[in-house]
Amino acid sequence: MTDSLFLRACRREPTGTTPIWLMRQAGRYMPEYRAIRARHSMLDAIRTPELACEITLQPIRAFALDAAIIFADILPILIGMGLDLEFVKGEGPVITNPVRSPADADALRTPPAEENLPYTLDAIRLVRRELDGRVPLIGFSGAPFTLASYAIEGGGSKNHVRVKSFMLSEPDAWNRLMDKMATVVGDYLVAQAEAGAQALQVFDSWAGALSPADYRAHALPYARRVVERAQSTSVPVIYFGTDLNGMLPLLRETGADVIGVDWRIAIDDAWAQLGDGVAVQGNLDPVTLFAPWPQVQRRADDILARVAKRPGHIFNLGHGILPETPVDNVRRLVDYVHERSAAMEAS
Ligand code: CP3
Repeated sequence: MTDSLFLRACRREPTGTTPIWLMRQAGRYMPEYRAIRARHSMLDAIRTPELACEITLQPIRAFALDAAIIFADILPILIGMGLDLEFVKGEGPVITNPVRSPADADALRTPPAEENLPYTLDAIRLVRRELDGRVPLIGFSGAPFTLASYAIEGGGSKNHVRVKSFMLSEPDAWNRLMDKMATVVGDYLVAQAEAGAQALQVFDSWAGALSPADYRAHALPYARRVVERAQSTSVPVIYFGTDLNGMLPLLRETGADVIGVDWRIAIDDAWAQLGDGVAVQGNLDPVTLFAPWPQVQRRADDILARVAKRPGHIFNLGHGILPETPVDNVRRLVDYVHERSAAMEAS
């Protein structure tokens, strides 16, 4: 299993065939997933290890993917901290008692992962048994900044006015809040590796809302802390965010083994800015998959040509796969990346 294409690429070893998995690969574009969600709420599916296991395996059965990612979400970690989370149909996640003051931040608890998220740790153990070494399993968490954004905004946000105002006007409370986030996230990542996750991805989805100076001062130190704690387990760590292309060299300071890049930059350009000694994951625009196959193929070719077999490339989308993505294009993309990259090696 340590020999899998995916884990070898995380370590920047040559792989011959380029590994591919897709962020949010278990989800609504799959009829099998919709069938389960018709009968169970999002939180029930996450909290029932048998259901989370089944959903995790759906894309692995359907496509020749090189890694599984545990079915969970970045937000349930906030529940044990004292926040009331709901997934509202058509609206997404909502927190009904968001953090709006230093006192709210100081009231948050920091329970250990075994207490806070036992169901996901159980699901990881179950999936590892079911996978039986077929492909490695990725665990994940939100990064401290992105979780703080949800905790303070109370849901998704366009301009991140509340979280950034809190950060700038309450610097001490901000540091205490981020310290708590880093504690629970670091603990959760370590617990996932101990339960059997063979790689860990840290989603800093909203860090791109920050200027480079604010990212460096107010988010990066905590991202680095959780990456370091995760690496203490010796599994590779992937750090991913969107809209971060103006600060790629800074992302290296997280210390992550792999940096995930979105599609707003050419992958070779991103890699040149990131420098040596790091693997790169990405970066097909998820909307490409809605185009006719020849277009998908051209763009996949372009990414593979730009990478030119540099060791340490993990093919992925530049952000999560979208609902209603044509399943047939997903299947063809996965197979094509394998065939084309293997042929490039041979020629
Ligand atoms: O990659 C995977 O297949 C693993 C599962 C996974 C989910 N969420 C399941 C999910 C992962 C890795 C996530 C991460 C996540 N969750 C992020 C970071 C990644 C990113 O996209 O930037 C964020 C910001 C969230 C928070 C979240 N969860 C939002 C904003 C939403 C609503 C929007 C949406 O896509 O529906 C969710 C719900 C969610 N999480 C769904 C899934 C499959 C859809 C639930 C459903 O309606 O069935």
